[in-house]
Amino acid sequence: MANLEETEASLSEAQIAVHWREEEYLYPGARFIGQANASDPAIYERFSEEHFPECFREYADLLDWDQYWHTTLDTSNPPFWKWFVGGRLNASYNCVDRHLATKANKAAFIWVPEPEGDQTQIVTYRELHRRVNEMAALLRDFCGLKAGDRVTFHMPMVPELPICMLACARLGVVHSEVFAGFSGAACGGRIADSGSRVLITMDAYYRDGKLLDHKVKADEALAVATGQGAQVEKVLVWRRRPGEYHSATPMTEGRDFFVDEVMKDYLRKQVDPVPMPAEAPLFLMYTSGTTGRPKGAQHSTGGYMAYVAGTSKYFLDIHPDDTYWCFADIGWITGHSYIVYGPLALGTTSVLYEGAPAYPDPGRPWRIAERLGVDIFHTAPTTIRMLRKLGPDEPGKHNYRFKLMCTVGEPIEPEVWRWYHEVVGKGAAAIVDTWWMTETGGFLGSTLPAIKPMKPGSCGPSTLGIYPVIYDEEGKTVEAGSGKAGNICIRNPWPGIMQTIWGQPERFVQTYYARYCHDTASKDWHDWPFLCGDGAVQAIDGYYRILGRIDDVINVAGHRLGTKELESAVLTVPEVAEAAAVPVIDEVRGRVVEMYVALQPGLQAGREIEDKVKMAIETEIGKVARPKNVWIVPDMPKTRSGKIMRRVIASISNFADVGDITTLANPDIVEGIRRQVYKQKTERGEAPRELSAKELEEIQSFGRAD
Ligand code: WT7
Repeated sequence: MANLEETEASLSEAQIAVHWREEEYLYPGARFIGQANASDPAIYERFSEEHFPECFREYADLLDWDQYWHTTLDTSNPPFWKWFVGGRLNASYNCVDRHLATKANKAAFIWVPEPEGDQTQIVTYRELHRRVNEMAALLRDFCGLKAGDRVTFHMPMVPELPICMLACARLGVVHSEVFAGFSGAACGGRIADSGSRVLITMDAYYRDGKLLDHKVKADEALAVATGQGAQVEKVLVWRRRPGEYHSATPMTEGRDFFVDEVMKDYLRKQVDPVPMPAEAPLFLMYTSGTTGRPKGAQHSTGGYMAYVAGTSKYFLDIHPDDTYWCFADIGWITGHSYIVYGPLALGTTSVLYEGAPAYPDPGRPWRIAERLGVDIFHTAPTTIRMLRKLGPDEPGKHNYRFKLMCTVGEPIEPEVWRWYHEVVGKGAAAIVDTWWMTETGGFLGSTLPAIKPMKPGSCGPSTLGIYPVIYDEEGKTVEAGSGKAGNICIRNPWPGIMQTIWGQPERFVQTYYARYCHDTASKDWHDWPFLCGDGAVQAIDGYYRILGRIDDVINVAGHRLGTKELESAVLTVPEVAEAAAVPVIDEVRGRVVEMYVALQPGLQAGREIEDKVKMAIETEIGKVARPKNVWIVPDMPKTRSGKIMRRVIASISNFADVGDITTLANPDIVEGIRRQVYKQKTERGEAPRELSAKELEEIQSFGRAD
């Protein structure tokens, strides 16, 4: 792109983003196309706006309904849309029972424990049916749970987690899984917010070679929840190794129960799936809760199930005979939609892996893929970057063959995309870059893999039946091909969209609709664009490039710099493995950029690399973005799902308190980074400055990952 200094007057984040230039198309092979679920471009016509909302019947018809619906979409109370009104169905029935006739002996889940010596467990559809029924009986008869009640899970990646989800779904009980890596306190806040009377957890689980005490967090969670007025009656504790107990905390008499002991009374019990109204809530998924009340995204039964089944079929190209491995945690929406509900609705085999990606070495994922015959692989850029950094040649040593690979969760740098394609996919697998979020239930942007070519760094056009628009700050439409970025919105309702924020309907309207809805009295869905919260650019071919969260922007002297663009520029320096940009409050320029960098293995930090990083930003973006400091650190503070915790390093860069770091995968590195940065800042004559409450809030909640 043109140097920033020359174009200052009309500068927008869009133009800054242009340096991430348009890449070439890549086409999938004939072998993939020949077997794909969607290979006829006419499918786009079937889902065109003219056929909305009836087009989604095609997704809903992938399910078995106890009672067929009469109204596809009810828009009488915007923006609280109702899909498939009048219909009744059960999610557990659709994921389990209906497959028994043809697939009883087929694996529903293959569970790979982290310790490599431990036996892989196969859970067939028949076995899954038995275990889901037993758990449902226990929840109903031992816990007294019924349709509409909420239950919180704080479970690691073990088959008992989807078994509990499906058991709740069988009863119409609303589950709320809190990612196991989250602290007890975070879990407690979510128990209280959801009004759960039961918590389901596990004594311990393996992560990075260690058996972590997990039950201890249940006690912390209950203390916090009780403090917030919650009344939790029972804590159900699964044992990672049945019969053994690997937690230092005692079981509280009358409150805590080992599931394997209680289960003795429920063996072989059968529970009829409860036919639930399509719009009954299926689960809550909490998002972003570093400050203020957590937001529980409420997802429906009928619309959600239809949407994840349809998108799994067409975009992940899942067939019943595939062995599909989504390398994410069920504690995130990705796991709910694309490890459990979508794949099981289609009757496929879904692989679950307990542990850390590179444990005990970066060849592990590829050994698993080879041994299990995985043919669809689904993971996030952060995992791809990590595996590339630790074992760039490992995939080539293993004899697996992927037909399709998915990347999700953040923008992927074209560099990293190419390694994924050439090395992991061996040049043969089709790639889908799927863009969406917790709130949306399923994919919003992706190529249809046999129909549209791949373009590294772009997610592709919108998915079927999704009609986006990009608005600028004034609400004017930003045209495709203009090279400008803006706020991407979805103009229409779709079946997978969240129904509301649990218990906070006003906040739901405020957060997602207030910005661009100009007539709140309108009953016409056209007046209610949904604000996704991402910046995006649309190329002339209709493909979207997602620039990251609107709130991840660093505003330097009025120039809105996307963290992703800055980081992508830095990744052009070959020595750099990972980069993270954060804002530092500055008297003169408002904010300035500081860059944290981790190097490729074996390389030494030095002034020379710092200069290269600064130069890369200057040439790729412009002088205005030149970082004040470049900190070369051994590793980035990360969440368990691998997202860089920018708020932690942003706090360090501003001499602010780092806040709660208990949810980090690597909390022990924070103190070392703090010392290093403080020492060098002091040497460079930088002193702490007083921050206003507003500035402090901005810094301490910078970035979405928590
Ligand atoms: C945010 C949502 C999607 C489920 C897991 C994360 C970013 C997600 C992509 C992608 C670029 C992406 C967006 C979005 N994001 N997928 N393919 N390309 N950015 O869910 O925690 O709710 O995060 O992740 O910024 O808003 P989440």
